[in-house]
Amino acid sequence: MSELRISGRRIEVLFDAETIGRRVGELAREIGAADFENLLVVAVLKGSFIFTADLLRAMHDAELSPEVEFISLSSYKDATISTGQVTILRDIESDVRGRSVLLIDDILESGRTLAHAKDLMAARGAREVRTCVLLDKPGKRVADIEADFIGFSCPDRFVVGYGMDMAHAFRELPFVGVVLTAPEAP
Ligand code: IMP
Ligand code: MG
Repeated sequence: MSELRISGRRIEVLFDAETIGRRVGELAREIGAADFENLLVVAVLKGSFIFTADLLRAMHDAELSPEVEFISLSSYKDATISTGQVTILRDIESDVRGRSVLLIDDILESGRTLAHAKDLMAARGAREVRTCVLLDKPGKRVADIEADFIGFSCPDRFVVGYGMDMAHAFRELPFVGVVLTAPEAP
């Protein structure tokens, strides 16, 4: 297990850059083998931005030529409200009617975000909607959804890096890690 110190916090590396890079290449080839027609990739912001950027370049290497869109969703997970409501903060601009849509997200946890996005694309007339996530946390599922393409299964821990944040920090890390709670000893 490797551990790094960043901004005075100790971070345990769960998936290093090389491991992620290798898996992203494999995912692109799996997506290529799925025979999508007129593919529209929809990145669910913000957490998926680095994963999407790397996956798109790997898709090019796998001889795919998708179009790309971005959607930003906000889900309310406040236990006191517990509505599981998802709202659109920023919508895509393309018409999805008759198209194959591949939703890309960083983590599939409760599944509320991706289930909502999937229903939305289907309601707008997409021909098919599939999903790809870097990390799957199967232990936390609330909505009835499984991803079609999964980078890694992830333990039930709060992870950062490779686009994912903790209070807006750590998105820039080239690996996925866990911020260790105990502060650095002096
Ligand atoms: P859910 O599947 O609707 O519960 O939402 C998953 C979203 O919650 C992900 O797209 C992330 O934005 C966020 N999220 C869930 N777990 C983590 C984590 O461990 N670190 C950072 N963001 C997370
Ligand atoms: Mg997200």
